[in-house]
Amino acid sequence: MILKIYKYGSPILRNRCKIVNSISSDIKQLTDDMINTMYEDDGIGLSANQVGFDLSLSIIGKHALESENDLIIINPKIIEYSDEKTIEEEGCLSIPDIREKVIRSKDIVLEYQDLNLKTITRKFVDLPARVIQHETDHLNGVFFTDRLSFVKKKLLNKKLNQIAKES
Ligand code: CO
Repeated sequence: MILKIYKYGSPILRNRCKIVNSISSDIKQLTDDMINTMYEDDGIGLSANQVGFDLSLSIIGKHALESENDLIIINPKIIEYSDEKTIEEEGCLSIPDIREKVIRSKDIVLEYQDLNLKTITRKFVDLPARVIQHETDHLNGVFFTDRLSFVKKKLLNKKLNQIAKES
């Protein structure tokens, strides 16, 4: 099933998402639906609150990971950020038609749980590290546009307010 994507201005996108304590068949179905929705909209990552579920859960597309499988991260927590930063353009399915350069750590160490609620600690670099930082921001109620300079934010304000009005 393709899910509705909540846009900038929807209150659920400003929430800190709830910890997932058990995996039901509903949650497995949700992750399948999220993966289908992400591909439908040409995204490389998607978080549960972007499709209206207050759950600490994101998916990362396999093409962003250069892996054979999409990655499901449950209750993700970044436990290390590299001092080395990179600046790359980002977009977001919840903020249509806006792309901006965002500064982020080049490498991260992520602690998360898989669909068996097994805890995994893994290092990610470059694009995967960037997508995961973007998605874990969503789970904490943060948009990539929040990370832009004051001046950039001011310039985008009108467009963001317009998206919020339509959402
Ligand atoms: Co996003």
